[in-house]
Amino acid sequence: MTSANIALDSGRIRELFDMRRNTLGAFTGDPYPAWHQLRDTAPLHEGTAGRLIGFEGDEIFFGLPEPERRHFTAFDFATCDEIVRNREAFWMSPPDPDPEKARYIESSMLTMDGDRHRRYRSLVQPSFGPEQMPWWTKNWVRPTVDALIDSFESSGRADLNVEFCAAIPTLTICGSFGISPDDALDIRESVTSAGQGEGAGRLAQILQPLIEARRAEPRDDLISILVNAEITDDEGNPEVLSDRDILAFSWLLLAAGSGTTWKQMGITLVALLRHPEWLEAVRENASLLDAVVEESARWEATDPTFGRFAHQDVTLRGIDIPKGSVVHVCYGAANRDPSRWERPDDFDPGRTPRTNLAFGRGAHVCLGKNLARIEIATAVTALLERLPNLRLDPNAEAPSIIGLYERGVTAVPVVWG
Ligand code: HEM
Repeated sequence: MTSANIALDSGRIRELFDMRRNTLGAFTGDPYPAWHQLRDTAPLHEGTAGRLIGFEGDEIFFGLPEPERRHFTAFDFATCDEIVRNREAFWMSPPDPDPEKARYIESSMLTMDGDRHRRYRSLVQPSFGPEQMPWWTKNWVRPTVDALIDSFESSGRADLNVEFCAAIPTLTICGSFGISPDDALDIRESVTSAGQGEGAGRLAQILQPLIEARRAEPRDDLISILVNAEITDDEGNPEVLSDRDILAFSWLLLAAGSGTTWKQMGITLVALLRHPEWLEAVRENASLLDAVVEESARWEATDPTFGRFAHQDVTLRGIDIPKGSVVHVCYGAANRDPSRWERPDDFDPGRTPRTNLAFGRGAHVCLGKNLARIEIATAVTALLERLPNLRLDPNAEAPSIIGLYERGVTAVPVVWG
């Protein structure tokens, strides 16, 4: 991969990846003080993580908006952990699915449960295991990172949020599907269009020829794995994935792979740039990077809440939750639970490592967590190797972290040299 063939339309990338233009970025405050107050009162509250702290904008995330349902939110580590581990009572799919709403993503593993979820997930799990990380780094991550730095190295300044952080995960996941960089932004646009079904046409248009090409001649990529994967059906008979299954799988991986890591990478860079002592420590000792990436995810998880649907009437922490309710797990608040972390609001990679919930936990724990970690670590390593004296641009507006159901930075303005 060369810098010439990954040049992305900078205006369009800014439009697609600007947190301020994103409706999910409409919340510009810091939700953590209010979430602390809620947790201090009780671990579980009726209401959503947004409405409970006075946010009146659109709430579009797991199980939202669903005004006809009752919503509950857990704010401490133990309750969030218990909910996502209780697979009897709490599911990804509702007990009463609305056929009108079950559109393109209906056959996505994110909304499956139990054995069916396990069978689908196991098809791609090996490609995302720790042993496969050198495959990702060598084929897509490091070449993309280097080509992007080539494109702005001589200018002495950049907004890394769009020119770098947004491009790396999109180009990586698209590359692993055999999708050319020229189509990468169309893919991003189609997986983020308001209704999943609306972007599906363009996604299918790009993927269908690749599916056919890989059926004829498999390559060493993810789309070949999906095309050739055999799954056992509900009766235990093996069958290849249908095109519809492949497109739903691809939709999920392309969406999850291109959105989250971008924002978490920006958060990690801002945390480091605000703490030059840690930037220096990582430059001296690259083995500290794992702790830095983990601490950034604990401190400011880009997806601070997920949720589950109650499949039975449950009483939890003294609150009656009727079947059909949405139970939100505020992973962000759980990650700052003071009963688990001292000085939880501080970004401190030196703290004793403890499991946090930034990548979820249990059966639906993030499939791409290893990939996300190596993308961020590879990006930081390359920046430190190639851009001497990297620092926040003193003449640019200081970056801030915004958004409620998806959090990310407004910009990462840097200078070097
Ligand atoms: C820093 C970046 C990322 C963060 C913070 C993140 C976060 C999460 C979280 C919290 C969940 C669990 C949701 C729940 O509990 O309901 C999840 C699930 C998932 N993530 Fe990620 N993710 C990231 C990157 C990625 C990447 C790079 C990919 C793929 C290329 C990916 C693919 C998935 C998939 C497929 C699931 C659903 C797994 C299942 O249902 O079994 N994620 N992610």
